[in-house]
Amino acid sequence: MKSSNRLLIQDKYFVPYLSEQQMQQRVQELGQQIATDYADKKPLLLCILNGSFVFAADLARSMDIVCQVSFLKYSSYVKDKSSNTAKDLLGIQGLNEDLINRHLIIVEDIVDTGNTMNQLLKELSSHKPASIEIATCLFKPSALKFNISLKYIGFSIPNDFVIGYGLDYDDYGRHLSGIYIADENQN
Ligand code: IMP
Repeated sequence: MKSSNRLLIQDKYFVPYLSEQQMQQRVQELGQQIATDYADKKPLLLCILNGSFVFAADLARSMDIVCQVSFLKYSSYVKDKSSNTAKDLLGIQGLNEDLINRHLIIVEDIVDTGNTMNQLLKELSSHKPASIEIATCLFKPSALKFNISLKYIGFSIPNDFVIGYGLDYDDYGRHLSGIYIADENQN
């Protein structure tokens, strides 16, 4: 790996981890799998802002079926630390779509502790949808603290901080086309 690929974002160094090509290929695969599973179900993709905006756009466009796309805004990170309570910033009440009897697919950038997803699953269940599944671009299995099942996973990664493809550090780095991981050497 060339040292010139090392990025300084605010006070932290990051190095390439998953390339743009790897992301595109895997997201295409996920989209095709979801399209097969939901062929006649007209699913509603509920994309969690801000982090999932890139994944959601690529995933939705790789699904060749009838579906709807909407957005919820949650935030649980302060810089690079997960807080215990996920804050509902732009929640379910603001959705135009009726969730009753709908097949919901939550589209998330990354499942870390699972706290955000656990809270969201509880809230969505109370709206009596036909089904709820989760599509997450990234998953940190060793950080998970809740019993949640993730049906569609892009990549499982180590418990290290990552940015790019929608994910941020201190609100920077979302525009990067691939995933970058915090460099072990921060000097
Ligand atoms: P959880 O509630 O601990 O699962 O955290 C979920 C949210 O924290 C994600 O939607 C991200 O916004 C953020 N997050 C978790 N890990 C990372 C990371 O490595 N980089 C950037 N954001 C992260």
